[in-house]
Amino acid sequence: MVAGGDPGVAASATAQDHWSSRFAFVMAAVGSAVGLGNLWRFPAEAGANGGGAFVIFYILCVVLIGLPILLSETLIGRHGQSSAVESAKVVARESGASDGWSALAWVGMLGAFFILTFYSVVAGWVLYYIGVFGTDLIAAIGGGTLFEGAFAGQSVEQVQGHLPSLFADPLMMILLHGAFMGITIYIVARGVTGGIELAATWLMPAFFLLLVGITVYGAFTGAFGQALEFMFAFNPERLLHGPVMLSALGQAFFSLSLGSALMITYGSYASRSTNLAGASTIIASADTSVAIIAGLAIFPIVFAAGLDPALGPTLMFQTLPASFQAMPAGSLIGFLFFVMVFFAALTSSIALLEAPTSWAIHKFGAGRSRTAITLGLIIFSIGMLSALGYNVLSHVRPLAFWPTFAELDILDSIDAITGKILLPLSGLLTAIFIGWIADRKLTDAENGISGGLHLIWRFLIAWLCPIAVSLILILGIFPGLIG
Ligand code: PHE
Repeated sequence: MVAGGDPGVAASATAQDHWSSRFAFVMAAVGSAVGLGNLWRFPAEAGANGGGAFVIFYILCVVLIGLPILLSETLIGRHGQSSAVESAKVVARESGASDGWSALAWVGMLGAFFILTFYSVVAGWVLYYIGVFGTDLIAAIGGGTLFEGAFAGQSVEQVQGHLPSLFADPLMMILLHGAFMGITIYIVARGVTGGIELAATWLMPAFFLLLVGITVYGAFTGAFGQALEFMFAFNPERLLHGPVMLSALGQAFFSLSLGSALMITYGSYASRSTNLAGASTIIASADTSVAIIAGLAIFPIVFAAGLDPALGPTLMFQTLPASFQAMPAGSLIGFLFFVMVFFAALTSSIALLEAPTSWAIHKFGAGRSRTAITLGLIIFSIGMLSALGYNVLSHVRPLAFWPTFAELDILDSIDAITGKILLPLSGLLTAIFIGWIADRKLTDAENGISGGLHLIWRFLIAWLCPIAVSLILILGIFPGLIG
């Protein structure tokens, strides 16, 4: 299996790396979970799905479905001590089950691979806005207008026009997507402790500081009460609304990095002394808190500017910049905001690249750097289709009888296919595998819980998770079934 004759390479390629501490594991996993999903997708989904009902259902999904699956994934990894696919095989074999169960990791890894193709494009837009606000910040400092709003002298249309002008610039989009992939590849190539862990243990605390700072500032200067009302107002008739529930569960999977082979991979680097149930609870709570705090950072600013938050994905890149324009010290806050989003996106993209990289290292025995670079370049190339779909390719038809790239909307389609099908499918297989197939002695020795909590976990993973996730999958594949 190992290419090349150097036994040192073979040994280092197959011996499993480990985090240097529990803190490092938790930071890396939280770093993977906290990302564009919390900052770009969650507020937009909450806005589009009417606020309160979505938020409440989302929290239920995280606690009752996300957390049990998260524990199952980290458990498979820690027991298997290998890449996600190999780890699933180890647990299956020791349980006397077929190797075919490694499909749960395959599907997830495919999901991670394709998510990164568009994730990096969107992260490129974040870099662009760091530039836009950075330039404006320098101008504001020079002009002595730092404590006024951002973009002095520009109309709201001009501020919102930054996004379409970026979309119209294929070269810029490719450069930013490439720069972001380049940074991601560099960190993954440096390894588990020297790259991934180092990045997470610095970037995540910096991220939290920025998030809390911006939220507190927004609470004093923005429409905080209105934001609270929007996010938590309980509206029972929307709670049991099919599309809202579907979006909430899909969002929970995406945000917790579930069903993407990632938590199996990161779990495989965890030491035997780490309590997986405890770590999973911290990861899920941190991720959910960040999503909610992000809402509490974003909505007050948007409401204070008198704008409408229900605008989906453009919320972060158009509505929010226009809102910063109306905010005191808007260019500074806008700049810090996008730096914060960049930190979050980077620790997630690292995770997205690590899941397939770890598999390929074990499979082909090639060095980590070479593997990360090769996979990163393939992902970069596929991502170009998403980036160019907005401009040079927009009128091109990939096949004569197909729609054009603009109509195919590659970025949104990959987002939908991965988020609504691949991740839930991998999660479903994981729940069935751990709930019904895997040897209980093995799983119970790994999970770190006992007594009543253990029984609850067993019930959720064997019954609630498979049923709820199957429902979501069916609805995701046949959206026509719900109104
Ligand atoms: N959870 C990340 C986010 O919220 C995205 C992600 C998904 C990362 C799957 C790794 C694996 O942005």
